[in-house]
Amino acid sequence: MARGKQPAKAHRAPKVRRAVVTYTVADFESAFWPDEQPVDNAVVMTMGALHAGHAALIRAARKQVGPEGRVAVTVFVNPLQFGAGEDLERYPRSLDEDVQLAEEAGADVVFAPTADEVYPNGEPQVRLAAGPMGERFEGATRPGHFDGVLTVVAKLLHITDPDFAFFGEKDAQQLAIVQRMTADLDFDVEIVGVPTIREEDGLALSSRNRYLSEEDRAHALALSKALFAGRDAAAQGPKAVREAAAAVLDTAEGVTLDYLALIDPHDFVEAADDFQGEAVLAVAATVGSTRLIDNVRLICR
Ligand code: PAF
Repeated sequence: MARGKQPAKAHRAPKVRRAVVTYTVADFESAFWPDEQPVDNAVVMTMGALHAGHAALIRAARKQVGPEGRVAVTVFVNPLQFGAGEDLERYPRSLDEDVQLAEEAGADVVFAPTADEVYPNGEPQVRLAAGPMGERFEGATRPGHFDGVLTVVAKLLHITDPDFAFFGEKDAQQLAIVQRMTADLDFDVEIVGVPTIREEDGLALSSRNRYLSEEDRAHALALSKALFAGRDAAAQGPKAVREAAAAVLDTAEGVTLDYLALIDPHDFVEAADDFQGEAVLAVAATVGSTRLIDNVRLICR
């Protein structure tokens, strides 16, 4: 080697796993189970428009199943969970970028079916019902939303048949209801919640953040500020938590509040004033034309 010449560094390049992209159930099955090897496997369900929050879910799934295990990422904008006038048509779709992010985070297979592939008999006549847990908070504003979520989650669990399924804590009510469905209906899968990823200034990552103008984005910070103020008051009990969070939102500009609630995470009901233990402080609001949700977990004393 000539003096001063560096050895080739090719072997130091980060190892990127190549993900196989599939569009049909049959192709997914042969890609996800290429042989009879018994390995742990995990699924991360998404509606695409992947961001660092999804990457954290995929990395958590990879960590759980190890390098030899299998990780599937589903990308499907499920029409059943959108109500009339919601953003189904304008929901961002970016499959090429999604595949790249999924690959880099550790996915083996991306399953991106069409609606006809998921619902080959047309709109399903039989759906799962989320029950009372699905009628409060998000469910009160978006009637039927959680029935649509559970119907597709159940289908995707059947198709992917994973040992583990990873869901973000950002959608706290969805996580609680999916956990409850798998427990109540004996699904043989472990549902794992993954903490919310935030921008440095506190904004929770969401595929819908891309709809925010610069001004909306500045206004949206009131949501996380309110939640953090509530969390800081947790030692003084539920009433103090609610008051501290509400004080921030009361003076917030450009935010139309839907609900601010301190919630017992087990059955997703409003926590009583003497509630003690782990609770979810959740907020939903419209900023500009975009509906945002966020929450923090805290311990009430
Ligand atoms: O959280 C989401 O992105 C969706 O509700 C899910 C779980 C992928 C079902 O469509």
